[in-house]
Amino acid sequence: MKIIKVKDYKELSNMVSEIIIKEIRKKPNLTIGFATGKSPLGAYKNLIREHKKGKVDFSRIKTFNLDEYYPINADDKKSYRAYMFNNIFNKINIKKDNINLLDGTAKNFKKECEDYEDKIKKNPIDLQIVGIGVNGHIGFNEPGSTIVSRTRLVDLASETIKRNKYLGKALTMGISTILKSKRIILLASGKEKARAVRDFIIGDIDKNIPASFLRKSKNLIVIIDKEAGSLL
Ligand code: F6R
Repeated sequence: MKIIKVKDYKELSNMVSEIIIKEIRKKPNLTIGFATGKSPLGAYKNLIREHKKGKVDFSRIKTFNLDEYYPINADDKKSYRAYMFNNIFNKINIKKDNINLLDGTAKNFKKECEDYEDKIKKNPIDLQIVGIGVNGHIGFNEPGSTIVSRTRLVDLASETIKRNKYLGKALTMGISTILKSKRIILLASGKEKARAVRDFIIGDIDKNIPASFLRKSKNLIVIIDKEAGSLL
């Protein structure tokens, strides 16, 4: 695990977008695992800006998102599909066919999850971006999730329901799914993440802090700002 400490959210976002751009230049058909939430938003803004300047071409990348609420209507603004299209996909030259999202409208959620696992197996993720929840979750792998978990339907923890204001379940890549990524970048910014960051980095590898399982990855980069790293 490599830990990079930066000053603030702006520096964190710059570092993440620079890594993504560098990797796309090395491998134009890079497969990227994206996250939603506040943590990667600044990096996505940078990617859009650099794309507009002609500095990066997304036409050959493939993407997989970590998670989606379930069930959720296709036109619900709260969906992670809407988040991704509004915050990045509609603003870069990505091909729609290369975008993979868990379908929160799928009737057969088991098949949806199995198909997603199969697709990831066929297109291994080169670079996976993850945020961390205040309770140590990654994706929607809430405390209690195991290292062998696969893409599945999960209940959200009460903190997550409160913070995300979504009363329902979710589909999420499992921890074993995420760990198959060739490289994982975990981002954390702000004081509210300090406890989760401390626990996942220096605590035991344990299912109560699902992010701690990422320490099993051979290529994990943790980028944290001063506030998120304040308890280390
Ligand atoms: C989002 C996701 C979640 C978030 C986490 C942090 O796709 O899977 O695990 O990364 O809840 O959210 P923010 O970044 O909003 O603090």
